[in-house]
Amino acid sequence: MKFLQGDLKSHFMTFTDLDGVLNWQELFGNQCPVELDVGCGRGLFLVNAGLANQDINYLGLELNYKEGRRAARRLKKQKMANVRILGGDANTTFDKFIAPASVSAIHVYFPDPWWKRRHMKRRLFTDVFAAKIAMALRIGGLLHVWTDVQEYFHVIGALMDRHEKFNSLPPLPEHAPTHDMDYRTSLERKKRKAGRKIYRGRWCRRVS
Ligand SMILES: C[S@@+](CC[C@H](N)C(=O)[O-])C[C@H]1O[C@@H](n2cnc3c(N)ncnc32)[C@H](O)[C@@H]1O
Repeated sequence: MKFLQGDLKSHFMTFTDLDGVLNWQELFGNQCPVELDVGCGRGLFLVNAGLANQDINYLGLELNYKEGRRAARRLKKQKMANVRILGGDANTTFDKFIAPASVSAIHVYFPDPWWKRRHMKRRLFTDVFAAKIAMALRIGGLLHVWTDVQEYFHVIGALMDRHEKFNSLPPLPEHAPTHDMDYRTSLERKKRKAGRKIYRGRWCRRVS
């Protein structure tokens, strides 16, 4: 793997840096559990979670290289060895680079809603995507999805609640932030400050 050399390469990589299915031990240098943040944006979740849980490895998946690199700079500044970012489409990442049953949790925070009806087919969360998640998660692994878009949340809930490979769990209670970085993600901060309700879903990968 070429991505261990160079400036941002220790924290940001793309598909061309990879040889095939990711070997987590090789990537992180340990055998700790791995969690994915799909559409990690500027990386607030990755920074907070990575600092709070040094015994967990995090990989952010981000389509927008500019955002991914911005997040990687935050990680580099904090010298975080347990968090990295892979630039590229999460669908391709699941298809080509994630070994089955190798991930302990998947986080999807504020996926793009694509409001216009003709654009809705661009939404990330579909039954095909749910199947990829089911494939990647270990038995007992968790899926977290948050959004402020009620209609999209209902679509995701309908997919996941009836999915034969998942059990739904009660959502995490809302956390009262103590400072401006004390939010799950940048979008959560923005939406809560705007007074929006946040819908939080949690599902567990079961034996099927
Ligand atoms: C609305 S933003 C939310 C960012 C962050 N999760 C947050 O809550 O602040 C959605 C993010 O998902 C990324 N994204 C959209 N489709 C994606 C895909 N197919 N693969 C990876 N990232 C994707 C976008 O580039 C964007 O950064």
